[in-house]
Amino acid sequence: MKKTVYSAIQPSGELTIGNYLGALKNFKELQDEYRCLFAVADMHAITVRQDPQLLYERSLKLIAVYLACGIDPKKSIVFINSHVSEHTELAWILNTYAYIGQLKRMHQYKSKIAGNEENANAGLFLYPVLMASDILLYDTNLVPVGEDQKQHVEITRDLAERFNSYYGDTLIVPDPLIKEDGARIKSLQDPSIKMSKSDSNEKAYLLLLEDEKSLRNKINKSVTDSVGEINYSDDQPGVKNLLDIYKAFSGENMDKILSELEGKGYGELKKKVFEVTNETLSPIREDVARYMDNTEYLLEVAKDGAIKAREIANETLKRVYEKVGFVWR
Ligand code: TRP
Repeated sequence: MKKTVYSAIQPSGELTIGNYLGALKNFKELQDEYRCLFAVADMHAITVRQDPQLLYERSLKLIAVYLACGIDPKKSIVFINSHVSEHTELAWILNTYAYIGQLKRMHQYKSKIAGNEENANAGLFLYPVLMASDILLYDTNLVPVGEDQKQHVEITRDLAERFNSYYGDTLIVPDPLIKEDGARIKSLQDPSIKMSKSDSNEKAYLLLLEDEKSLRNKINKSVTDSVGEINYSDDQPGVKNLLDIYKAFSGENMDKILSELEGKGYGELKKKVFEVTNETLSPIREDVARYMDNTEYLLEVAKDGAIKAREIANETLKRVYEKVGFVWR
């Protein structure tokens, strides 16, 4: 039996190249070896107020992005969370095993409430339990996520272990699978901070679906230094960042890249970075646009994915119901 991989992205904003390098790029490679589920985490997204029309559009667009990034709906299960109600059903049960103290210690919760717990919505607080349910419903072995979600995978493990210690082995305890690639990419304007789509300066980040012209512009305007030599060094953080981007997109090793660029100027480096990023991103951009012209197909993929997801989810939920003493429907 193949091991199971589960991951999800929230349809709550534009995706950056960090999402691509840290997550999407690897999803494609996992689908031959594992039973994979890739979800649109729309239920997580509404823990922050969303514009309904935008949320709808972004949910479909995320399906398009999954497909454009090489996820094959015949190999992997691609679906929208809110289509499979077992997620909230298991979440309710797991809420009764989650400790308030531990939920209060979640980094993401603390940063999102920004000191104002009284007026924070309860969904934000219970978010990690919903995420645990996503993962545990599918007997997931591996959860590819960014470093920022590691704590949520840990609480998932705690909940599974706690449940198992009450009732005997019922839930599979998953492991996180963390790729460093995307996490290392820095702001193009200030290479001392992480590249983030919430940066107030839009020149600081590259979107996954950035058009060609602005991709070129943003790379050309990225901050370098006055050294004038291409070295992979902490003393030249802007150049180092461009080299990291080059490496992540080209897949070449750093020694080869550095020898290729030896004696060249920053203009040449930027040109190369544009070329490799555009080579990967332009087919994705075009495919997404093509899929978005055919939203019926995207809905079909999502619905078909939900049927397959539900089959697995239902089995797990039944097992949990029986352990808890619920009468199975
Ligand atoms: N919380 C994740 C994020 O913001 C998205 C997510 C929801 C997820 N459910 C998941 C990731 C289950 C992995 C597994 O990135």
